[in-house]
Amino acid sequence: MKTIIVKKSPSLSGEVSISGSKNSALPVLAASLLAEDDVILENVPSLSDTDVMKNLLFDVGAEINEHDGVLNISCRNIKNNITQHELASRMRGSFLLAGSMLARTGYAKISLPGGCPIGTRPIDLHLKGFASMGALIERGHGFVEIKAKQLKGARIYLDFPSVGATENIIMAACRADGTTIIENAAAEPEITDLANFLNTIGAEIKGAGGDTIEIKGKKTLKGGCHRIIPDRIEAGSFLAAFAMTGGTGIIKNIIPAHTAPITAKLTEMGADIDEGEDFIKISAPERLKASDIKTMPFPGFPTDMQAQFTAMLTSAEGTSIIIETVFENRFLHAVELNRMGAKIKVDGRTEVVEGGAALTGARVRATDLRAGAALILAGLISSGETVISDIEHISRGYDSIVEKLRKLGGIIEYADL
Ligand code: UD1
Repeated sequence: MKTIIVKKSPSLSGEVSISGSKNSALPVLAASLLAEDDVILENVPSLSDTDVMKNLLFDVGAEINEHDGVLNISCRNIKNNITQHELASRMRGSFLLAGSMLARTGYAKISLPGGCPIGTRPIDLHLKGFASMGALIERGHGFVEIKAKQLKGARIYLDFPSVGATENIIMAACRADGTTIIENAAAEPEITDLANFLNTIGAEIKGAGGDTIEIKGKKTLKGGCHRIIPDRIEAGSFLAAFAMTGGTGIIKNIIPAHTAPITAKLTEMGADIDEGEDFIKISAPERLKASDIKTMPFPGFPTDMQAQFTAMLTSAEGTSIIIETVFENRFLHAVELNRMGAKIKVDGRTEVVEGGAALTGARVRATDLRAGAALILAGLISSGETVISDIEHISRGYDSIVEKLRKLGGIIEYADL
């Protein structure tokens, strides 16, 4: 079995360059299906999730050439509008193809994304959006069929600012007849990146990054070139690695405004943060202070950083309270961290982390992507050896994490055990 072994490491130091954003690359890849000419995408991260999306596109008829993180995609000839269950069930992001496939071909049969350890993750808001635009929706066993000869612009209010639903509705609305307005839309930077890409290929989208987005439908979209934004969660995870080990370093190739909710917390916890146009310098004290956290949609503290901060707060001075408001079951890492000596109590959506624990290495399981990152971080400050299994979750979202941490002084390697 492939595992990652982490040993107690010195304070991390040095520079790390951040890869392209997974959560931007997935919708932008899905949106390439809307383009009738070639699309060139730069800064696409090398991840198993982006590989799955490329394979799904390939199945649909896309031609993809790749060199050094630059993808040349041609979706001139669509031959299929049904996603295969085997591929689609591997990641929830596969459902992002629904909006673009429907808009491009008038039909989409998509395998339902399947269960997810961090919560039930329904797709009702995506479907509500498509239905408001005139689509007929039929649910089968394990799949959903969506049909609309011609989507129509509509006013859509989302009960929750869902990232995926906002993205799917934007993609569908790009080829609808008339104007679509999404109210209570998600404001994550990845939404803005998707809108910027779509505007590059001829769409007319206004207001992305705010809570009301307006999309004027177009008959066709052309091709174009777009650079994926840096991954704010990868950046946050490395900031946490420096902070946790009392390290000093520079995170390069980032947009500091995107990590503001994370750096604000790190400052509160006692780290020195200095930001430039595309980098952040961090210098951490020997011991961080406890801090309370509540996850929220952007610009609130990201749920995708909650597990890593939990790991960090296990050794901080004082007790922290963490409230998870986005997903209903995102504390699976607490059980694994407690096996390493952490003192975490979970009650519903609240976690109480008693700081000052002296962590010791153990055999632990990466229950999901960010839980895996949290265990790596914990391993860096634990005595002995931490052996992490189920590491396929980690390669879903971190490009070369082991190699990048080793360059900073982390004692970490892959092993077959
Ligand atoms: C995206 C990110 C994920 C991140 C999450 C929240 C991608 C590929 N993934 O996931 O990393 O953790 O945003 O920032 O971009 N919900 C419904 N009905 C729906 C859709 C969502 O009730 O139709 C609920 C979900 O169950 C969840 C909440 O809304 O509790 C947020 O989900 P959403 O914003 O949709 O997350 P994803 O797009 O799946």
